[in-house]
Amino acid sequence: MTDTPRPVPPPLAVVSGAARVLAVPGAGAERLGELCDFLRSALPAMQVRIRVGTRRSDEHACGEAVPDEAPFVASVPMGEDRLVTIEAYGARRPPAELRPILETTATLLVTMLPAITQPADADSSVERRLTRLTIDSLPLGLYLIDRDYRIVLWNRKRETGTQGLRREEVLGRTVFEVLSRQEPDALRAEFDHVFVTGEPHESEQLVQAGTEARTYRTSRLPMRLDGSDVSHVITIGEDVTEARAMHQSMYQTEKLAAVGQLAAGVMHEINNPLATIGACVTAISSRLGGSAEPVVREYLDIIESEVGRCTNIVDGLLDFSRAGRAGGSFVNCDLNVLLDRTLYLLKHHQRFRRLDVERALQDDLPAVKGNTERLIQAIMAILLNAADATNGTGRVIVRTRVEGLFVVAELTDDGPGIPADVVPKIFEPFYTTKGPSRGTGLGLAISYGIVADHQGKLDVRSEPGCGTTFRIAIPIAREPGT
Ligand SMILES: Nc1ncnc2c1ncn2[C@@H]1O[C@H](COP(=O)(O)OP(=O)(O)O)[C@@H](O)[C@H]1O
Ligand SMILES: [Mg+2]
Repeated sequence: MTDTPRPVPPPLAVVSGAARVLAVPGAGAERLGELCDFLRSALPAMQVRIRVGTRRSDEHACGEAVPDEAPFVASVPMGEDRLVTIEAYGARRPPAELRPILETTATLLVTMLPAITQPADADSSVERRLTRLTIDSLPLGLYLIDRDYRIVLWNRKRETGTQGLRREEVLGRTVFEVLSRQEPDALRAEFDHVFVTGEPHESEQLVQAGTEARTYRTSRLPMRLDGSDVSHVITIGEDVTEARAMHQSMYQTEKLAAVGQLAAGVMHEINNPLATIGACVTAISSRLGGSAEPVVREYLDIIESEVGRCTNIVDGLLDFSRAGRAGGSFVNCDLNVLLDRTLYLLKHHQRFRRLDVERALQDDLPAVKGNTERLIQAIMAILLNAADATNGTGRVIVRTRVEGLFVVAELTDDGPGIPADVVPKIFEPFYTTKGPSRGTGLGLAISYGIVADHQGKLDVRSEPGCGTTFRIAIPIAREPGT
């Protein structure tokens, strides 16, 4: 063993170490014993003794004294007449270096003692308080019922909101009395399922909140207080609207990417034979000149127009596969200017000519980072659909504004609207309700891909009889370095 005294550690290191030792849950005496051990290992001392009590007698004491040796002592008062004393025996360092460490540790002990020396059931009351606080801080509505369907716990989140009820109003009452808007038999069946099978039960509800529909998930979980029977059921209610929407849009994007890849492969295979057929038809027509039988000419016309139709589809697919891929040049652009350009291009389009267009564009829109050609293509597809929906004679309102970190363009038509069961399908590639010569079902799928490529969002609000609004939201371009 060497006799070189160990260096005195920095006071903060000792005090924070001591705090860590004291913070571990456990009985008070045990904590003090461990603190003694810790101080002995951290300090250049042979023994450490901690005493808590009055000047006359100790209430707690731990660690060992060294007989016949005068310790170095740090005492800090606690309350009116009590003291916390730390004694260091065999210290091989001058008291001036140990004093701040021992005094600060003793002060720390004064602050933490009430929490660590309480009897065991007081400990569990601290634990209970923590549990309650945790349950109340959850961003989820949570309540607990017993086997008589009486509510025994009701958390803070369940007290807030439009249907919130205060804890005092519900505790001890049956869940059927409290949640009187729910059908009691159905509710009882859900609880009974958990009580009887011991299996959790999950359900989702679509709830209309004003103009907005929100999705809530309710989970009922079994709890067994003692033994194997389910004694309580925990119910957790969660608003999963955003999570659902996110999932849906990821699913959509993935599907589009897959179709885009497939399309890119198929296109090359089809393009060349189509071009050959087209060229052959032209060659036959010119060979026959005016001498062809009317029926042959008719067939040739059909072949030609069908080849044209296939070429359109292939071109659409080409667009689609490009839309799914990032790339092209992204520049700062003004959505107002893009809308104006699209409307200008459409002015001469026969499907669009007689439409009544109203502009409500917000001045001084911030720029978005965009690929101008692609964005125009997306806007055009939506406007052409509006023209189709109103038979080219309706009214279209084009609005722009800033919403948070996004520039938003809304394109509203007064057409017949889209039935609720059709809405989820319209962004799917090849989904169309138009006749084969009118629709490819690719317009919205392409637009969706383009907007997603801009880190944006394309969605729709529509109700039969109330027209349709497509909403394009694109993030505002950030200044360099922000
Ligand atoms: N403004 C609208 N009003 C009513 N229905 C619409 C509107 N826009 C799109 N739709 C529906 O969405 C479907 C898909 O649109 P889209 O992908 O552009 O394909 P297409 O126009 O070739 O049918 C349309 O067939 C139509 O049923
Ligand atoms: Mg379309």
